[in-house]
Order: sequence, then structure tokens, then C-alpha cells
Amino acid sequence: MSSRIGAFMLLILLFFHICYVSALTNGLDASALQALKSEWTRSPEGWEGSDPCGTNWVGITCINDRIVSISVANLNLEGKLSGDISALTELQILDLSFSTGLSGPLPPNIGDLKKLRNLILVGCSFSGQIPDSIGSLEQLIYLSLNSNQFSGTIPASIGRLSKLYWFDIADNQLEGEIPVSNGASSPGLDMLLETKHFHFGKNKLSGVIPEKLFSSNMTLIHVLFDGNQLTGKIPDSLSLVKTLQVLRLDRNRLNGVIPSSFNNLTNLNELYLANNKFTGSLPNFTSLANLYTLDVSNNTLEFSPIPLWISSLRSLSTLRMEGIQLNGSVPVSFFSPLQLQTVILKHNQISGNLDFGTSYSKQLEFVDLQDNKIDVYREVDNKRIQVILADNPVCGEVANRRSYCSAIQHNTSFATLPTNCVPCDPGREPNEACRCVYPYMGILYFRSPSFSGFSNNTNFLLLQQSISGFFKKFSYPVDSVGIRNIRENETDHQLLIDLLVFPSGQESFNQTGMAHVSFAFSNQTYKPPPIFGPYIFKGIQYSHFSDVRGSKSSNKSIIIGAVVGAAVLLVLLTIAGVYALRQKKRAERATGQNNPFAKWDTSKSSIDAPRLMGAKAFTFEELKKCTDNFSEANDVGGGGYGKVYRGILPSGQLIAIKRAQQGSLQGGLEFKTEIELLSRVHHKNVVRLLGFCFDRSEQMLVYEYIPNGSLRDSLSGKSGIRLDWTRRLRIALGSGKGLAYLHELADPPIIHRDIKSNNILLDENLTAKVADFGLSKLVGDPEKTHVTTQVKGTMGYLDPEYYMTNQLTEKSDVYGFGVVMLELLTGKSPIERGKYVVREVKTKMDKSRGLYDLQELLDTSIIASSGNLKGFEKYVDLALRCVEEEGVRRPSMGEVVKEIENIMQLAGLNPNVDSASTSRTYEDASKESGDPYGKDSFQYSGNFPASKLEPQ
Ligand SMILES: *[C@@H]1O[C@H](CO)[C@@H](O)[C@H](O)[C@H]1NC(C)=O
Ligand SMILES: *[C@@H]1O[C@H](CO)[C@@H](O)[C@H](O)[C@H]1NC(C)=O
Ligand SMILES: *[C@@H]1O[C@H](CO)[C@@H](O)[C@H](O)[C@H]1NC(C)=O
Ligand SMILES: *[C@@H]1O[C@H](CO)[C@@H](O)[C@H](O)[C@H]1NC(C)=O
Ligand SMILES: *[C@@H]1O[C@H](CO)[C@@H](O)[C@H](O)[C@H]1NC(C)=O
Repeated sequence: MSSRIGAFMLLILLFFHICYVSALTNGLDASALQALKSEWTRSPEGWEGSDPCGTNWVGITCINDRIVSISVANLNLEGKLSGDISALTELQILDLSFSTGLSGPLPPNIGDLKKLRNLILVGCSFSGQIPDSIGSLEQLIYLSLNSNQFSGTIPASIGRLSKLYWFDIADNQLEGEIPVSNGASSPGLDMLLETKHFHFGKNKLSGVIPEKLFSSNMTLIHVLFDGNQLTGKIPDSLSLVKTLQVLRLDRNRLNGVIPSSFNNLTNLNELYLANNKFTGSLPNFTSLANLYTLDVSNNTLEFSPIPLWISSLRSLSTLRMEGIQLNGSVPVSFFSPLQLQTVILKHNQISGNLDFGTSYSKQLEFVDLQDNKIDVYREVDNKRIQVILADNPVCGEVANRRSYCSAIQHNTSFATLPTNCVPCDPGREPNEACRCVYPYMGILYFRSPSFSGFSNNTNFLLLQQSISGFFKKFSYPVDSVGIRNIRENETDHQLLIDLLVFPSGQESFNQTGMAHVSFAFSNQTYKPPPIFGPYIFKGIQYSHFSDVRGSKSSNKSIIIGAVVGAAVLLVLLTIAGVYALRQKKRAERATGQNNPFAKWDTSKSSIDAPRLMGAKAFTFEELKKCTDNFSEANDVGGGGYGKVYRGILPSGQLIAIKRAQQGSLQGGLEFKTEIELLSRVHHKNVVRLLGFCFDRSEQMLVYEYIPNGSLRDSLSGKSGIRLDWTRRLRIALGSGKGLAYLHELADPPIIHRDIKSNNILLDENLTAKVADFGLSKLVGDPEKTHVTTQVKGTMGYLDPEYYMTNQLTEKSDVYGFGVVMLELLTGKSPIERGKYVVREVKTKMDKSRGLYDLQELLDTSIIASSGNLKGFEKYVDLALRCVEEEGVRRPSMGEVVKEIENIMQLAGLNPNVDSASTSRTYEDASKESGDPYGKDSFQYSGNFPASKLEPQ
């Protein structure tokens, strides 16, 4: 279901983008929006005139002159939400998040917005009862009302939202019981079978959690009820929700025993039961093999020794058992779970000898045993581990100044921001390149991270890279991002991180850019690495919009008094006229400079023209003709760049035309670079450029037509070509040769920079051809061993070393190639459902066993079609060498090619023959595609963010 939603959302959003050009706005929509605006004392800049669709009002998207999306998060809006909004009957997305000036109740007739899918009002000041009519928004998928001041009860009618996927009402003043259905007439939340997220924390909900609320038919993954006033016992039915990953019931008034049936929840990662009134003893949770966090602190449990089964929880990372009357001594094996980082055992009666032994977790960093009865401690020989034994007999003497006798916890000062820049004026911050700009700041709240240690920065670095990679991948107007001030909230153990998003190009964001960036967080389009768990983001008010007058401190208004005479005005006008003319000339000159093709036609000099080897310049008309006016029938795919059309030249030759879409045109210079590069490159395993078109502000590249699409298409099952082991080896060899040619034989050498399965095409003989040099960089000076550039590439294939250092070398391509080699094994995209193929293979593999015990990860069609996987282990070894962390430890492409040739000989194949049979085996259409959401392989680049709604 979620896959359908996801794909559908993407389609709609694409559609929005394409249909952006619009005629006059429908009259009713225009007046409804005007009415909305008139209720606001502060509205988005540029909401002027009477035609929101035609004049591109900030944050407004239209289809066929109807308004379908209002997405204006963090634009500082102020006022109330008017009932006129109900006239916008085509509206699908309403996002008004992060404007604390928006207040008052939601108008009841919001229920008339029958097409609404996303209602996102995060972090405003809306209040009053959530209207019952919300239950009539039948298409609603995404409901985020968190961090407002809503009061009253949760409307039972929400149970009617059969498509609801995300339900967040956390951090409000909601009270009363959680509504459940009763017969056919009265609905309840138990009917929400498609919902994955119940985020109800930080309210005043009361009463017992109804037994009826949960059933085995539900598909919830996050149930967050923390920080309410719920009473009674945990319903038995909760253990039926097998999909559950995060359960937070902490800080309520629940009682009774903690049910041992939680053992049935084998997907559970996080279990928070702290600060309730649970009684009895803690059950044996040995079955929870995926549990990262267990928090049972501050309950009235029976006196008991530290449970022995704790050390069998092999995923355990955070354990909090504060104030639950534990006694006896700490077992020696206690700190042995491999991932264990944080152990809080304070305020118990633990006695005896504290000994870490030798088998303690390598991740361990914090052990708090304050206020216990420990009387012997042999200091652990590991500087990273902080132990707190204050208020124990061992720290009894006043004179004891041992560091472990202090109760103060060390904190992290980790930040990913540059530290060596000249300080900026107040308000500005240095971006990655030390340029002082106005960043968009906000706080990320992680409601249940699966780690707790702060001394290992890997996770935070990963987060920063993941956010910045996301913005790059989808072409947001973002230069870079930084994080800092990492801290844990003492009360609810949320992880808080300050985020800074730096604008690209300019020194501040404009409102459109702001709305897009905000939507990525308010709509959860951006998904953090899974270890971070569910999050919310709160944007901080931004007062430096580049397109809002008076928002910059440097703006000085010029007041011309009424006494200024006509003559003065005339002079001013004349000056203005001259100035305008000069500006225009200057602009024209600048255009000329920016356009490297500007002087092509002049016979005098061809310095600026690309030096082409056999590539032809096509006119727009020619290409229009041979694609039947760029007809849909000839549209064979898309990419980050725009669309790809198939065409046929008058000579009968098939061609592929890559047409950059408006708004994602490369700079003229980059375009020229690509043409020059490609025209010079001639190799069997590299796609050949036939020509280009730089005409009527279009940028098109004309290639030989490669009939079988990309390797990704074949791996995902989309192209219907079955790739057995032999074919996969040949594809690895062919693409390896293409890349080795670029690195070692092309003159000057070329670093591809974006090696991935989408950029490896297969011709009719399944010969692999490396494509897409949009990002290529020449390796200029042979003395230099690296090229420093802005990080570009695709998440999943990106060389971590390049990412950290910005130093681009051929070895970055080798990394990407290693990922493709692994992808050839699994058939899946390198990052899928938060799993990264490199890590998966490394952790699963066992060299002592056949096929390294990787069968489980292999694409089924490898196993099905090729009983004999000769050379498999050598292939895995090679792939893993390519993805070594350090570039210097990776082989060169030349070495890679030699090794693949060896492997092929082992498998009894002749590496010098490209004899892959051309017969195509069409697979059952129902074959599970490697990409269940059907869109990971689609690189979207436009000014509307692509929404993804898979579970996190
Ligand atoms: C769960 O689904 C089954 C089959 O769809 C249905 O028969 C059953 O009544 C449902 N159970 C609950 C508790 O809704
Ligand atoms: C849950 O586990 C208990 C034993 O712990 C078992 O008796 C019960 O049948 C299980 N329930 C389900 C629905 O699997
Ligand atoms: C347990 O209760 C104490 C005192 O109220 C509080 O300071 C502490 O944070 C609580 N522990 C946890 C893990 O919630
Ligand atoms: C916990 O339960 C498991 C299996 O259910 C059992 O093997 C183990 O001995 C139990 N451990 C303790 C300490 O009770
Ligand atoms: C830091 O964390 C990463 C990922 O969680 C882990 O792989 C690595 O081993 C850790 N490093 C140390 C020194 O603990």
C-alpha cells in the first residue's frame, strides 16, 4: 500500500511540475486565496495581483488553472485560517508549518477539501478543538498537527480516514480518552489499518488504553503515547501488532505488570516504559533480538537482582534501569552485548564488586551507577568509558577525588561546521566554503534514536551527509548543511540537534526556496538514516529573505519628501533612464560571457567553440522533427537532467536525445565541457556522442541509441532482461573497461564522478556502455593527484573519502564501481529501506562458508539461472576492495579489469568475447522488483520536492 502511495505522490508532484505554466486562475480559487490572504496580517511576499497561478505566487501550485497545493512553510505568516479555504476544492497539499504567528481554530468546513492528501500544520499556534469534519477528508494520507495548542478530544471521525498513513498530533493540549469504534455507526482509531504512525506524545490524554484499539490487522510501526496521563494496564492486544518497531509509553500513569507477550513483537527496536507505576517483576525479553533501547526506569517493580537475560539481547545499545529496586551485584557478562553504549542503573541497591572483565562492548561509553552500594571498583582500562559511582561506598570518603566519583556527565562538542573561518557578522554563519551567509536554522527532534553514545561521531556525520546528499540529489537551492549542539533532553530522552541549511548562490534564501526546504522536513520527504528513528523538525523564524523588502538590515529606505520639485524629479528620471540602459548593456555583455557558444557563428575566432571530434550541431527544428515534436510516445525516460527522447534521423539511424528541462539547464560552460569530453571519447564501452543542440535556450545532447536501457532497468526487472551470472560478469567487465579507458587512456584523463547502475547502459548485445558525463571533470595537471571540487554524485555510490575531504580522484569512481558490483549481486538499489549494500555485505559475510554465506542477499535470478557461481568469492573480494574506506587501498580500474578477466577465466568464460546471447527472457511481470517503491531509480530534479512516503 505504501508503495502505491509513494509512487502516486511522486507522479502527482511531477505532474505539478510539468503543468506549472498555467492560464488565468479559476475565479473561485483566486477569490478564496485572496480571502485567505486578507485574514493574514503577514502573507508571503509576491502574493499580489489577481492571478495566483499565472503570476507564480510563492508556494502555490496549479493544474489546469486550479490550485492544488499551498506549501508555504516557515514564511513567517501571521493571522487566522479563514473558512474560505473550503472553496479550494482541488487542493491536495496544505502546508503552513513553522509560522508561530498563525493562530485560532481550524475552520470546520476544512472538511470540504475532499481531495486533500497532506494537511501539515506543524509548529504553528492553532488552538481549539480539532474539527470533526477532518474525518471527511477521505483522501488524507498525511496529517500533521503536532506542536500547536489544540485542545479538546481526538475526533473519533479520524477513524474514517482509511488511507491515513501518518498521524501526528503530538505536543498539543489534547485530553480525554483515545476513541475506538463501537458498532458500524461510531468510528474510532482502531479502524486505521493503513496507518503506520501514531504520534500522540506530550498531550493530556487520559483513561485506559482501550483493548479494542489494537488488532493483528494493524500495520503500525511507531506508537508514541509518551508524556500523557494514561492509566490502567497495557492492553494485551498491543502484542498483536507484529509490525511495531518503536513503542513509547513512558511518563504516563500506567500500572499492572509489564506483559511478557511483548516477546511476540520481534521487530521491536525501542521500548520505553519509564516513569509509570508498573508492578511485579520484569519479564524475560530474550526474544527481542532487535531491541536497541530498553527503558524501564522509575517503576515500582519488585526487588530483584539484575536480570541475567539482559546480556543475551544482542542488539542492545541503551539500557536504563534507574530506580527499580535492583539488588545483588553486577554480573561480569553484563556489559557484553556488542552494541552496548549507555547503561543507567542509578538509584538502586546494587552492591559488591564492579568489574568490567575483558569482554565488555567496544562501543561502551557511559555507565551510571550513582547512588548504589558498590564497594569495590577496579578502574576499567579504557579512556572512552565514563563511569559514575558517586554516592556509593567506594566513593565514601570525602577525600576521594577519583574522576568516577563525580556525578557530572561529559558532553559532546561535535559539530560539522567549519572551524577555521573568519567569524561572520551576527546573524550570518560561514558555510562550507567559509562564505558568510544567512542560514536557515532549525532543530531536529529525534523521538527515539537507537543509539545514545555521543563520543562516536560516525552517526552524526552520517546524518549531515544524508541531509546534504538529499538536497543535492533533488536539486534544492542548498549549498551545504551543518549540524551542531548535539544534546539529549533530560526528561524525554529525545535527541536534539541544531541544523543549519546554507543557501546556494545567494547569501540568503528567497521565499520559494524556503518553502521547498521546509516542506522537505514538514512532510518528512527527507528521511534520516534509520538509526535516528522518527523525527520532527521545527524551523526557526527566518528574517533575511532575499525577496522581501526591508528584511535585510542593510536595506535603507529612501524617502523623497513632497517638497522635491519637478526639476529634481526630472533629473532623477533621466539618471534612472541612463542607468537602466547601461544596466541592460551590462546584462547583455554578461550573457555573452556566460554563454560559451555566443561567438560560435563568427568566423573570426573559434576559441570559445567546443573542439569537437565528429559531433554535429543539430538545430532545434531538426530534433523536433525526428522526435515527432518530442511526442510522449518517444519519451523513453528521465533523469536528473530532464527527459530522454528516442528519435530517428533522416538516414534511418536511431538516436537518443537528452533534453535538459527548463530550470535545470546546466551552465553553458558545463554543457560545453560535456560536449567536448564526449566527442573526444571513443571506446566500445562508452556511449558515443553524435551531436548536440544549443538553440532557442535549449540544451540537448544527441547520443547513439542504446536499446536495452540502463543496468538498473534490467536489475529491477523493468526491462524484462534476465541477467544470469555470466551476463553480470560481462557487464562488470565491460563497464570496468569503459571506466578504465576514461581513467587511463583518454587524453586528458576523465573522472566520471557519477558511476551508478543508472549510468551504465546495455546495447542489443548486452554490451555495457558507460554514460552520462554531466558531472565529469578533467584531470588537468598531471602533477596534481586530485581535483578539488564541490561534492557531486549520487547517494549510495558516493565515495566517503571524497565526501569528507572534497578531494576527487579516480578512486572515487572505483568506489562507485564497487557499489555497482555489489548491486549486480543483490539486484537492489544500493540504499534500500535504509539498508546500505556495502554494510549489509560486510556484516553478513562469512568467509569460512560457501558463497561467503551471502545467499540470502543475492538476487533470486542469479541463483535460479546459474547453479554454478564460479569465481563468486573472488568477485566479492574484489568488490569489497573497491569500496575500501581509504582510496589508496582501492585498486585502480586497470587492476579491476584484470581481476574480472581472471574471474571470468575461472568461470570458464572467454573475457575477450562479448557473446552475450541477444535473446531476451521476459520475466513474469509480477516479479518482485528490486525497488519496491518504483522510484529510487528515478532521479528527480525540479523545483518541487519529490515526496516519498515509505516507512522509516
Ligand atoms: C482482520 O481481518 C480479517 C480478514 O480481513 C477479518 O476477518 C477480521 O475480522 C479482522 N479482525 C479485526 C480485529 O478487525
Ligand atoms: C504471544 O506469545 C505468547 C507466549 O509468550 C503465546 O502464548 C501467544 O500465543 C502469542 N500470541 C501470538 C498472537 O502470537
Ligand atoms: C527517574 O525519576 C527521576 C526523579 O523524578 C528523574 O530525574 C529521572 O530523569 C527519571 N529517570 C528516567 C530514566 O526517566
Ligand atoms: C529467558 O528465556 C529464554 C527462552 O525463552 C531461556 O532460554 C532463558 O533461560 C531465560 N533466561 C532467564 C535468565 O530466565
Ligand atoms: C562508531 O560507530 C560506527 C557506526 O555506528 C561503528 O561502525 C564504529 O565501529 C564506531 N567506532 C568506534 C570507535 O566505536
